[in-house]
Amino acid sequence: MKKRIAVAVTGASGLKLGDYFLRKLAIHSEYFEKIFVIFSENAKYVAQSEGFSLDFDFYKKHFDLLNDRDFASPIASGSYPLDGMVIIPCSVSSLASIATGVGINLIHRAADVCLKERRKLILVPRETPLSPIHLENMHKLSLAGAIIAPFIPSFYNKPESIEDMLDFFSLRILDLLGISLKDERRWKIDE
Ligand SMILES: Cc1cc2nc3c(=O)[nH]c(=O)nc-3n(C[C@H](O)[C@H](O)[C@H](O)COP(=O)(O)O)c2cc1C
Repeated sequence: MKKRIAVAVTGASGLKLGDYFLRKLAIHSEYFEKIFVIFSENAKYVAQSEGFSLDFDFYKKHFDLLNDRDFASPIASGSYPLDGMVIIPCSVSSLASIATGVGINLIHRAADVCLKERRKLILVPRETPLSPIHLENMHKLSLAGAIIAPFIPSFYNKPESIEDMLDFFSLRILDLLGISLKDERRWKIDE
């Protein structure tokens, strides 16, 4: 069955990671009934600071783009049948808001809804090193059902570029969403 998902992009370094994942979703749109996308205000600011341009025309063409203040949107309510949510990248600030249930924007609210409805929530934090506060928040979220999936590139697939790393990581996030694409780079796939 086709999935309804939400993808949020927050103001952690590495906006390219979120952008790459969204482009992979657009290529494989046949798996989805609906893809909601939200950028936090800080994501836009960090992209600008890092010299990375976010192509909102592309996002609008392929996704249902939501405002991060729109608490009246479908994904703000548990009664909307969302299958899951990915926050990529996820700042440790958004992670802390979700861990404490403080829904100050639509991203936090939608993540909170996923947890209360026992739906899939995948967080891709980007921070190093991690303080005890970050680790405690991740532990708390993991116990509440979230999947903590930091961007840690694998090497067994022999990546030759940053794009290779982003692509394989995006494939693994899709696996976590329950969408298993055929891919020869998987470990020992032919044995
Ligand atoms: C250039 C730049 C890079 C940043 N990188 C990170 C980062 O890698 N991880 C992180 O958690 N926060 C990072 N921050 C801080 C967040 O943007 C900040 O905590 C913000 O409140 C996050 O808000 P949001 O989660 O609503 O997007 C960065 C900020 C700037 C300006």
